[in-house]
Amino acid sequence: MTDTSILFSPVRMGSLDLPNRVLMAPLTRNRAHPDGTPKDMAQTYYAQRASAGMILTEATQVTPMGKGYKDTPGIHDASHVAAWKKITDAVHAQGGRIYMQLWHVGRISHNSLLPEGQTPQAPSAVAANTKTFTENGFEDCSEPHAVTKDEIDALIEDYRRGAQNAKDAGFDGVEIHSANGYLIDQFLQDKTNQRDDEYGGSVENRMRFLRQVIDTVCGVWDRDRVGIRLSPLGQANDIGDSDPEGLFSEVYKVVSDEKLAYLHVIEEFYGVNTSDEQRDILRRLRSRYDGFYIANGGYGADSAARAIEDGHAHAVAFGRDFIANPDLPERFRQGAELNAQDQSTFYGGDEHGYTDYPFLDKIRAI
Ligand code: FNR
Repeated sequence: MTDTSILFSPVRMGSLDLPNRVLMAPLTRNRAHPDGTPKDMAQTYYAQRASAGMILTEATQVTPMGKGYKDTPGIHDASHVAAWKKITDAVHAQGGRIYMQLWHVGRISHNSLLPEGQTPQAPSAVAANTKTFTENGFEDCSEPHAVTKDEIDALIEDYRRGAQNAKDAGFDGVEIHSANGYLIDQFLQDKTNQRDDEYGGSVENRMRFLRQVIDTVCGVWDRDRVGIRLSPLGQANDIGDSDPEGLFSEVYKVVSDEKLAYLHVIEEFYGVNTSDEQRDILRRLRSRYDGFYIANGGYGADSAARAIEDGHAHAVAFGRDFIANPDLPERFRQGAELNAQDQSTFYGGDEHGYTDYPFLDKIRAI
């Protein structure tokens, strides 16, 4: 049996002390009010998981145009700030730490989810060959329009406002969602970015939007409270690039030079095993980054402990296991069995499958 005690050694991430290395990954649960205000039950859900080294919230749109699925939360309105403040207070009252994941879906959306039925925003007018979840169930993504320079300026302002609102809501920091084929990833990768202005073409140009978002968010937060999430193997949401390793090699370098709180990488997508060749790519990319590294995707306690022992990662984020196990760190510590996951309640619904997964120790349950 692997010694997993390293998972419970405290570590400093940016300017935040984490009591353990078992982090909660961002997890969309589609349980907010239609206007993007989190429901009260989210206070219980997040507070139950406060024993995580750090919680990352579900992806949260910085503008109404950044919404791509039914009932996801926002951080662009006073009502959102007030509701999130109750959540951060509840997590802090339990001794936890919580970062907000700032999100814009770009082309992964549907007209019916956007104000006045507008078409989604994207670097280029290239429709995504995938579906999103609307009031009518799964529907093909709508064809997006290519954003103008003025829209890009406004998008940067959306990120600034989202970052400021997250600060006002009492978060410990923010994560820039640059993964999974959403807006920033769409700017980075050439399958979705076919622009011929200063935001398209060369890798340098395609990274311009990301750099501007980082600069703006770091104008609101100290950079040691800003993290970023990337998925260089890019398998989600019809994303792709003609030279992913070349591209992400540069992106990792930029993130490294920016000296952010951390880089968070999705190394494996659920349902898809990462090949040896892909692992080699991840290793080569990893060597381009000097800083706090959070690994994610398909990890368990043993493999997470090994990744930290080997110096690959400083901490590991767990997604599905944290949905089903509010006391995941304690279960790992005891080598206890994990609760079974109910995938039918992952996306949407009520308290069931959200706040009613049992703790090992009922007395400590919130
Ligand atoms: C996710 N994932 C995800 N990623 C992200 O960056 N923002 C998000 O809001 C979500 N939402 C989400 C919802 C659900 C229900 C799942 C299962 C996944 C991806 C997630 O953070 C993580 O990368 C994967 O779950 C892989 O990690 P595990 O589950 O293997 O530990």
